[in-house]
Amino acid sequence: MSIPVILDVDTGIDDALAIAFAIRHPDIDVLGITCVAGNAPLPQVVDNTLRVLDAAGAPDLPVAAGAVRPLIAAARTSAGVHGDDGLGGVALPPTGRQPSPHGAVELMRGLILGSDRPVTVVALAPQTNLALLLRTHPDVTDRIERIVFMGGSAGPGNATAVAEFNVWHDPEAAAIVLAAGIPTYMYGLDVFNAVAIDHAVATALAAEDEPLPRAVGMLLDHRVALRDGEGAEYTGLIGDAGAVCSLVDPGALRTEVRPVRVELAGYARGQTVVDRRRFVGEDDLHGQAADWADVEVALEVDAARMARLFLDTVSRDVARSER
Ligand code: RIB
Ligand code: CA
Repeated sequence: MSIPVILDVDTGIDDALAIAFAIRHPDIDVLGITCVAGNAPLPQVVDNTLRVLDAAGAPDLPVAAGAVRPLIAAARTSAGVHGDDGLGGVALPPTGRQPSPHGAVELMRGLILGSDRPVTVVALAPQTNLALLLRTHPDVTDRIERIVFMGGSAGPGNATAVAEFNVWHDPEAAAIVLAAGIPTYMYGLDVFNAVAIDHAVATALAAEDEPLPRAVGMLLDHRVALRDGEGAEYTGLIGDAGAVCSLVDPGALRTEVRPVRVELAGYARGQTVVDRRRFVGEDDLHGQAADWADVEVALEVDAARMARLFLDTVSRDVARSER
């Protein structure tokens, strides 16, 4: 039985890879996609998302615009990582699709309450939309099966030495989501940075005739500009797509349920503190109050297994509508 899913994205190169995988995998039923500013400004994120759906041969599914900036902090982008257009300059054809007339929060609420089965929300971006949904319509809580989010890290960050970009972009939103009491799965940098596609494979995909493999190959080939103009390196990371892969092949990852909190102040703002102590409750002994949430944290991944799953799925020449 397929998994009913809502994707929340800031498309973005790896969000595009995640959308492609979700649309093409037979065990995932994408009910709708909601967009938030992050890798690029919101209008660009919406347009990128629609164009990726075209390349993936997706059915006509609702795409809604959400927050233009985080709850508290100023908006930032990661043009240095995803390029000025958010897709690394990969010029996908203009789209004829139109975004939903509803905003992201209302679309999420309608899809969740209208689903005959609890919905899995996959957050691949700053969690501003999801936080606004939970603050505006808490009645959806019981109809959400799980929140699977790409974000955070039990180790080093990327946006800062300790914070991962999605959580760092809107830490208050991430804290609200963690506090909601919904079963939550964290696909953080600990596994995000491990799953890559060989350059030769990406090059071969980019030479394909079929629009989706070709787009995937070009997106994978985007190089992240190094600091000080030292050049650019190929990473081939499937990034956000790994979080979606975890839905259909959870056995490819090793997880632990751990207390997690989000730091909101100081240099560590945006850090997801993952408590891996043997005695997690020792805070109480030292009068250190802390609002922790128990989260299933992905700590290791069989990278070759997940890369294979991703490639087999996006290279499949059967578009969803033909299944
Ligand atoms: O830190 C990686 C995350 O930030 C990914 O979701 C990427 O798309 C960016 O949004
Ligand atoms: Ca993203």
